[in-house]
Amino acid sequence: FSQRMDLKDYNQSLLDVPQGTFYRFCLEPVQGVPLMKPIVNDWKRVESFQARPDDFLIATYPKAGTTWMQEIIDLVLHEGDVEKTKRAPTHVRFPFLEICSPPPVPSGIDVLEKTPSPRLIKTHLPYLLVPKSFWEQNCKVIYVARNAKDNVVSYYYFDQMNKTQPDPGPWETYIEKFLRGDVAWGSWFDHVIGWWEAKAKHPILYIFYEDMKEDPKREIRKVMTFLEKNLSEDVLEKVVQHTSFKVMKENPMANYSSMPDYIMDHSSSPFMRKGEVGDWKNQFTDAQRKMFDEEYAKKMQGTDLNFKVQI
Ligand code: A3P
Repeated sequence: FSQRMDLKDYNQSLLDVPQGTFYRFCLEPVQGVPLMKPIVNDWKRVESFQARPDDFLIATYPKAGTTWMQEIIDLVLHEGDVEKTKRAPTHVRFPFLEICSPPPVPSGIDVLEKTPSPRLIKTHLPYLLVPKSFWEQNCKVIYVARNAKDNVVSYYYFDQMNKTQPDPGPWETYIEKFLRGDVAWGSWFDHVIGWWEAKAKHPILYIFYEDMKEDPKREIRKVMTFLEKNLSEDVLEKVVQHTSFKVMKENPMANYSSMPDYIMDHSSSPFMRKGEVGDWKNQFTDAQRKMFDEEYAKKMQGTDLNFKVQI
């Protein structure tokens, strides 16, 4: 995983952009899925992206625990060598497939084309929009899903601090937008269900955020088996420790503190915010909970995808 040189340049390019290049992009649909305008403009390149057989994809709905799983994957692949995972920030170690920023910042695909194999790739795309070449090449994928209520709360605060996504507006209306799928990367329901069904056809390991919180060791073992890495108990212990919320929050290579504040403004909400299950209870009113539960029941009808957490 010697991606260091090219990708460090990528990080620098974010700092070099002329002032005012980044602002809150509007959303436009691609096959009904709202995506940020620069991604839509570059969609043909995303769609025709050529995956390689040893590409590894981490896929999530935004705020489901992507960064946490990225740190776990990188550490497992590097057999617990923490120094190696500190070679670069998360967004540099795992280029973001569909992301596209105004020039001179290279798009995710620009970066990936220059990245030597084996590549670690991040995507938030719903299953249906993932470039077909990933399936033709039989690439391995880890998908992380998080219960809808904690996911929407986390996304709300993230949309405040991420200055490239549409302004979330007040919570009362944000929750409705989320339920309608009127946020970047679309409907949570379509996302988690689409990937759940896709795992019958492709090498996809489907992991739940709540399971990771409940028993990180057990879930990291699943990752190890999937990645064909047989690590000792000591190394496994080290992976658990290094990927805990507390440690990652303080790790500049995992907490997005290297992002310029015109992209991520940690003073409005830190990227590593709470990292808990059930934080939604501090945000939802009783009426919002009732409304959400009714919509949830309708939208999840007919799927055998169940979230353990009582929501
Ligand atoms: P909160 O906003 O609820 O705190 P993503 O990486 O997909 O953007 O998800 C970010 C969410 O995962 C945030 O949730 C963040 O705090 C949480 N997270 C990141 N690292 C974590 C860890 N090691 N343990 C638990 N939660 C973590």
